[in-house]
Amino acid sequence: MRIGVSLPHNLLSKFDRIIEKRGYSSRSEGIRDSIRTYITYYEWMSDVKGRRIGTISLIYDHTKRGLSNALADAQHDYIDIIKSSMHVHLDHDNCLEVIVLDGEGTDVKSVAEKIMSLKGVKYVKLNTAPPAEKI
Ligand code: NI
Repeated sequence: MRIGVSLPHNLLSKFDRIIEKRGYSSRSEGIRDSIRTYITYYEWMSDVKGRRIGTISLIYDHTKRGLSNALADAQHDYIDIIKSSMHVHLDHDNCLEVIVLDGEGTDVKSVAEKIMSLKGVKYVKLNTAPPAEKI
């Protein structure tokens, strides 16, 4: 099927630069691949049931008022499933944090969603894997 899509200019030029670098033969091919990735990620996010090992990577501006406390509160609320975290000071304002979780998939997802909802968090990525004995 053919569809017409309106996109802001800078979004399209960023996309074009990426598909050129990755060697796609056409913009359509890049868009199909992006939609597949988006659907897979969404379906996967809605299907994190049972025990899961997870990592949440986030980048945030620690100078944003209240954010460091809110992040700490969110993690203390899920202390039972958070196994470890690593903090890297990226530059004057920005921090990278990687949180390692092991627990019920729906709880792992809740932690990620809570973090995503906080103002000043610039990037959040959740990855999960089944527990080792199920791989
Ligand atoms: Ni820091």
